[in-house]
Amino acid sequence: MGIDVSAVKRLFSEQLGGGPDWVVRAPGRVNLIGEHTDYNEGFVLPMAVERAVWIGLRRRADRWVRVYVSAESRWREFHLDALRREGNAPIEYVKGTAWSLGEEGFFLRGWEGVLLGDVPIGAGLSSSAAMEVAVARAFAAASDLPWDPVKMALAAQRAENRWVGVQCGIMDQLISACGKEGHALLIDCRGLECRPVPLPQGVKVVILDTGTRRGLADSAYNERRKACESTAARFGLKALRDLSLDDLTARAGELDAVTFRRVRHVVSENARTLLAAQAMEKGDTETLGRLMVESHASLRDDYEVSSEALNAMVEIALAGPGCYGARMTGAGFGGCAVALVEAGAAADFAEKVSAEYRRRTGNQPAVYITGATAGADVVADCVSGA
Ligand code: GLA
Repeated sequence: MGIDVSAVKRLFSEQLGGGPDWVVRAPGRVNLIGEHTDYNEGFVLPMAVERAVWIGLRRRADRWVRVYVSAESRWREFHLDALRREGNAPIEYVKGTAWSLGEEGFFLRGWEGVLLGDVPIGAGLSSSAAMEVAVARAFAAASDLPWDPVKMALAAQRAENRWVGVQCGIMDQLISACGKEGHALLIDCRGLECRPVPLPQGVKVVILDTGTRRGLADSAYNERRKACESTAARFGLKALRDLSLDDLTARAGELDAVTFRRVRHVVSENARTLLAAQAMEKGDTETLGRLMVESHASLRDDYEVSSEALNAMVEIALAGPGCYGARMTGAGFGGCAVALVEAGAAADFAEKVSAEYRRRTGNQPAVYITGATAGADVVADCVSGA
């Protein structure tokens, strides 16, 4: 199971003949806590997961980019001097990232290759960020660009914001570029500092896909973001990151009831995320689990981005064997929950929770037990022989 270098090389040789110059990989992510805080310049605590987007590529002498997209079983191509947005196919992520790197001032060279991945699409595991960061890694290899992960994450985010048209924050691209094996990263989304926090011993991170989907672009995401930004402006703050719970309580009268709840989520979630990182550093899994449960309640009741399926999954998970905590993860409205489970109970947990969720909702779930992996890298360098 899973994609590896030899699978990428095999596909490359089938489609192009010969071998690639480089094989690159960028992972999806799961966020342990700190949801809808990144665009408020707050704190997040995601980790890179084992599922990833892979590209095997060979440099070209011209400025054509030709890609065999495995998910579509077809070739796509474009010229770097004629970048135009056309539709929603995966190649738009390649073009968008090329455009964004160009905006950064980089001169890009063409390449040809294969693109494949096993991050489920639209599940809240950042398949699009993984794609953008993998593409940035591929261009960096083909064009001899210096690989600065934070700078590249920002370029990938600009592709998502301005080419794909989704107003996401920086979390997904940053963790895909900067992830650290065995660790989550506490990211300060104001200064973009990343602090590695080790995963607690003896527990597994279990991703529970509800099998339900809701696109980010047509969701209430942009609306929530706008409400946060206008409240910050109204309070004379740069971002909601600068608001304390006491200040919010004092000024509650200035906000309508819905906006008050939205803002309360952001402020309380920032505090929970910092506490969660501390708990992890102390190996206090109980506290981490409890904070995850509180985060879910806040997303469900105050931010209102959960769904019936997600609530059912979280409830069932919390009653499952060895579970310390569970919550929805990612933008919400569908997709995945994440649970923290005693390592020895994880297989039993996965089986029992899936069966009960299927029985209760009629939806088909998927379960991934995952470790934390490194961020984007060149997995095979056949040019320099590494
Ligand atoms: C999506 C966005 C992120 C973040 C989360 C919610 O994954 O891409 O930037 O805002 O939603 O925490």
